[in-house]
Amino acid sequence: MPQGYRDQTESESEKKDPAIQAALHHADENQKSHLEELLELLHIPSIGTQPQHNADTKAAADWLTKSMRGAALENVRIISTAGHPTVYGDWLHAGQDAPILLIYGHYDVQPPEPLEVWETPPFEPDIREGYIYARGSSDDKGQLYIHIKAVEAWLRSTGRLPLNVKFILEGEEESGSPNLNAVIRDNKKLLAADIVLISDTSIPSPEQPAIVYGLRGICSVLMDVTGPSRDLHSGSYGGGINNPLNALCHMIAKLKDEDGHVLIPGFYDKVRPLTDEERELLAKSPLSEADWLKETGAPKAWGESEYTLIERLGARPTLDMNGVIGGYTGPGSKTVLPSTVHAKLSMRLVSDQDPKEIGELFRKYLATITPPSTKVNLTIREGAPASIVDYTIPPMKAAAAAYGEVFGREPVYTREGGSIPVVNQFKTILGLETILMGFGLPNDRAHSPNERFYLQNYYRGIRTSIHFLARYAELVSQRIS
Ligand code: BES
Ligand code: MN
Ligand code: MN
Repeated sequence: MPQGYRDQTESESEKKDPAIQAALHHADENQKSHLEELLELLHIPSIGTQPQHNADTKAAADWLTKSMRGAALENVRIISTAGHPTVYGDWLHAGQDAPILLIYGHYDVQPPEPLEVWETPPFEPDIREGYIYARGSSDDKGQLYIHIKAVEAWLRSTGRLPLNVKFILEGEEESGSPNLNAVIRDNKKLLAADIVLISDTSIPSPEQPAIVYGLRGICSVLMDVTGPSRDLHSGSYGGGINNPLNALCHMIAKLKDEDGHVLIPGFYDKVRPLTDEERELLAKSPLSEADWLKETGAPKAWGESEYTLIERLGARPTLDMNGVIGGYTGPGSKTVLPSTVHAKLSMRLVSDQDPKEIGELFRKYLATITPPSTKVNLTIREGAPASIVDYTIPPMKAAAAAYGEVFGREPVYTREGGSIPVVNQFKTILGLETILMGFGLPNDRAHSPNERFYLQNYYRGIRTSIHFLARYAELVSQRIS
C-alpha cells in the first residue's frame, strides 16, 4: 500500500469555506479505502466489445450501483439497453435555484490484448512507482470513480452537496455508444441538467491541468475482400488469380498518400479551417514533441507537414488501419492464396465532417478502386461526429478555478484526437455543453498494454471535483442574486 498522498497549494489553503474544508478533509482521510475500492472495480474484466465478457460488463455495472448507494446517492438504478446497461443515480436536494450537474463516465474497457506484453495481468491491478497498472485504470474507471468519491466526501462530511448531481455511467463507450442515443432520448426528463462534466481525457503533465474543448469524431469500416471460393495453391494458381491479400494492400495504399493526406475525393470538403485564434491557442499547449515522441517509441514524428503536431493530433482528420486478418500467419511458411481477408479501418473526423457522409464517400471511392477480380463487402458503422465545446461559458471558469486550487496552475485549453460519442449526443438531444476536465496523463497507455493511472492524479482529481461542485454552485448563485 503506498503512503497517503496529501498536498495543498497556497491558493487552496487561503480559501477556508468550512464545508469545502470538511469535504476535502473527508477525502484525505479516506484515501486508503478510495484506492482499495478502485482496485476492486479494476478487477472486473468489463471488456464491452468482447461478447464473452458480457457477464463481467454487467458485473461492473452492478458493482457501481452498490458503490453509488454506498456514497449516499439516491434513485440508483440500472437502465437496460439493447446492449450493456447504463447506470443512473442522483442527489437532488440542493434546491431549485441550484444548478443540476450531469456527470458521465464509462465503465467498459478496451480489450487488453496482446496479453504477453503486460508486466502484470491487466485485471490484477498492481501499484508500482506511484501508478496503478490495470486495463481501465485511466480509461475510464479511475477517472469516473473520482466523482463518485468527491460526491461521497461532500455527502458524508456535510450531509449535502452544493448543487444537484446526476450520474450516468455507460458500458458501451468503447463500442461507439450505439445504444446511448436511445437511453438519452427516452429519459430526457430524468437526465435534464444545466451542464455535463466528463473526466475521460488527459492533461499534459502532473503539473499542468487542461480543459479539452475539441474531440475528433469517428467513422469505422470493416472490409471483407474475397477472391476464390477456397484457399488455393499459390504455385498452381498464382499469377492467374488475384490474391485478395495483395488486392487489399493495393486498395489500402490508395486511401492515403505517404505524407498523411487522405485521398478519398471530397473527404476534406467540410473540414472547418482552423482560425488564427485557435492556432495561437493550440500553439500555447505545452506539448513537447521530443517527450511525446520518446513516449511513443517511434523513430520520428509524421504527418501533414502544413500543420503543427498538436494541430494534426486534434484538429485534422485522419484515416488508419486498425487491424488486418488474412492468409497464413502460423509457424513456418505456407504457399497459399487466401480466399478471404479482412481489414478494420477508422477515420478520425473533425468539424464539420458528417460521419454518415464520410462513410458514403468511402464506399463510393472504394467501388472505383476495387479490382473486378475481387469482391468487397463493406460494413460501415455510423460513428460519431466531432465535438467542439464553447470554452468561454461560465462553468468552464468554475472548472478552471477548481483545477487552479488543486494544481496551483490555471488549465490550458486544448483539443484531443480521441472521440467521446456522447458529447455530441448530449448537445443535440439535451442541448447541453460538456466540460472535459480530465486527469489522465499522456503516457497512461490507454488502449495499450500496461495501461496505468497516476495515483496522485486520482487523489488530486477527487479534490478538484470537490472544489468544482462548490465553485460551479457559487458561480450560478452569484448570477441569480
Ligand atoms: N477516453 C477516450 C477518448 C479520448 C481518447 C479522449 C484520447 C482524449 C484522448 C475514449 O474512451 C475512447 O477511447 N473513445 C473511442 C471511441 C470510439 C471507439 C468510438 C476512441 O476514441 O477510439
Ligand atoms: Mn474513455
Ligand atoms: Mn477509450
